[in-house]
Amino acid sequence: MNSRIIVALDFESSKQASNFLDNLDPEECRIKIGKELFTASGPDFVRSVIARGFDVFLDLKYHDIPNTVAKAAVVAADLGVWMLNVHASGGMAMMSQTRDALERFGADRPKLIAVTVLTSMAGNDLAQIGIQASPLEQVVRLATLTENAGLDGIVCSAAETSTLRKSVSSDFCLVTPGIRRLEDAAGDQKRVVGPGEAIANGSDYLVVGRPITKAASPNAALGEFNLAVAGAVKPLV
Ligand code: C5P
Repeated sequence: MNSRIIVALDFESSKQASNFLDNLDPEECRIKIGKELFTASGPDFVRSVIARGFDVFLDLKYHDIPNTVAKAAVVAADLGVWMLNVHASGGMAMMSQTRDALERFGADRPKLIAVTVLTSMAGNDLAQIGIQASPLEQVVRLATLTENAGLDGIVCSAAETSTLRKSVSSDFCLVTPGIRRLEDAAGDQKRVVGPGEAIANGSDYLVVGRPITKAASPNAALGEFNLAVAGAVKPLV
């Protein structure tokens, strides 16, 4: 499996999500399971998606004391997920202890990435929690901290990737949501980027939700996204 497309499985129930997956080929995409579906359907559902042959990104954004996050990450890795994430603002100790705890999985270790600044937060939201830096400065600071903690990458806006690529190494993985083709509705995404452009700007994996999940033919839409990134020259990390 070498698709760079991670389909966001944003459904309310495992029944809806399973119906959707019945028509999707695990050779063509990976799957992201977030808080809503996980809270509704739990670890058994995650196992069932993995059993179908999909690589699963468990998007639960852990943020707690180092011991708690490290232990939660080990349980997630035991489920067999391909990727999981934490909040970089949990700090160096939280990230590096979690990274160390996953070492026991050897070559099967899931990719561990971090969320830097939520894209829903603007400068004034950061100021309210005592951060005077601009959102982009804070993103770069937390991306560097994440890389120094030994994690594999970050989730970031496709609009930030070219700036970030100058601060992190080329094998540091950038995972970007907010991806749309020209014909797709932006929905609640404020700044959207096309799939080919996102890869050209340095993204490694693209998280795509509604343009695929709400498409008349999800398979056809997924095929178009895969085609749009097929010209990418950078090898997968
Ligand atoms: O439907 P859409 O393509 O907008 O879905 C994008 C997915 O990426 C959703 O699951 C959303 O929660 C997630 N996401 C995002 N923006 C971020 C982080 C995650 O849209 N900054």
